Amino acid sequence: MSNANPPATFEAFPRRDGQLHVEQVPVADIAEAVGTPAYLYSAGALEAAHDGLAGAFAGRPALLCYAIKANMNLAVVSLLVRRGAGVDVTSGGELFRALRAGADPARIVYSGVGKRDDEIRAALEAGIKMFNVESRAELRHVDAVAGALGVRAPVAFRVNPDVDPKTHPYISTGLKTSKFGIPIGEATAAYAEAKALPNVDVRGVDCHIGSQLVSIEPFADALALVRDLVVELRAAGHAIEVVDVGGGLGVTYAEEVPPSPTAYAAAVTGAVGDLDCEIVVEPGRSIAANAGIFVTRVLYQKGSDEKHFVIVDGAMNDLLRPALYGSYQRVEPVGPARAGVRKVDIVGPVCESGDFLAKDRSFPSVEEGDLLAIRSAGAYGFAMSSNYNGRPRAVEVLVRGDRYEVVRERESLEDMIRGERIPQEL
Ligand code: LLP
Repeated sequence: MSNANPPATFEAFPRRDGQLHVEQVPVADIAEAVGTPAYLYSAGALEAAHDGLAGAFAGRPALLCYAIKANMNLAVVSLLVRRGAGVDVTSGGELFRALRAGADPARIVYSGVGKRDDEIRAALEAGIKMFNVESRAELRHVDAVAGALGVRAPVAFRVNPDVDPKTHPYISTGLKTSKFGIPIGEATAAYAEAKALPNVDVRGVDCHIGSQLVSIEPFADALALVRDLVVELRAAGHAIEVVDVGGGLGVTYAEEVPPSPTAYAAAVTGAVGDLDCEIVVEPGRSIAANAGIFVTRVLYQKGSDEKHFVIVDGAMNDLLRPALYGSYQRVEPVGPARAGVRKVDIVGPVCESGDFLAKDRSFPSVEEGDLLAIRSAGAYGFAMSSNYNGRPRAVEVLVRGDRYEVVRERESLEDMIRGERIPQEL
């Protein structure tokens, strides 16, 4: 376990003497030392978010499996694992990262619609807690791979309850038009098939309806259906011991007021708490988003009749969410705000009009060389970054108190072309 508990409301990014800090370190000092663009994470904020949610389920048989897709840096995962978290993985690569970060395989669940045989094998060899199986075709592969290894595979089906999570369409996963899970109406038949297979053990039921949910109702609606299903499956002779309620708890990017961890836990336990099951939760965003910022430097400015552009050295390849979802993340100057406010687009160097970090934003005046911080960047920030436009990926830094460490080096140009070859014979 880690050191002293951070307070329940942890101020990860305080402003002191006008200067934005991560915990006790001025952002400008880190940027000076490691360059920009950069992702900076607060250890205390990660721990506070983890403890807040885990604590809300205290006294229950519950396991928090951090959805590593949100932020898969080994330092972040290892910190959460040391805090007691299990991990929700979605690929062989995430499984590899979780294990490297020290996760207990018995606390790893594996979700995702397209698991390959080699990935299934790796998970079985590691001895994971449970596969969240998303189709009957996948179930047969899990059974076959387990049979070939001479082991039994613990499984749940991810059921799709057809409940609208009222979030961005790209991150809605529990509607019947979505590729995820099996329709809840087909669950009885699917579980019957699982029971008849020689190498799988039915353990649970899983459901994840979407991400960035800011109201409790969709969770409650979906879990009410899951509850009915568990009762029905038990009546049919299935030993359902685990209910995995997925992730999805939203965070504040702008003005959203997501359910508190306590309200969320109350809704979950209100729906499925009397089933005498272990409850697995798979939070990603609510653990990491507001524990990180993305720091970028102003390169140039230019204007037209219509627009004023602030061109920065971070771009959509570094932080894709605004470009991909049109999503809003707060931006602020790292130093004291300069006088004067104007409406700006904050854009990166990538050759796409979709490459913006903020659009039509009222923002204090800036000058070349100024540092800007994009808030709420700890989840689905670095994890979704790429080398598009020949841009090496950013450095990642973890801060604790008055100390910090680079936890992923900035990619070098050589890193960026590693593995590529100019063929000699073609
Ligand atoms: N479990 C499963 C099966 C998932 O598919 C996801 C997220 C989670 C858990 C974690 O959900 P969370 O607690 O983070 O909401 N890139 C998008 C988010 C994609 C979420 C995909 N699945 C974004 O930046 O908004």
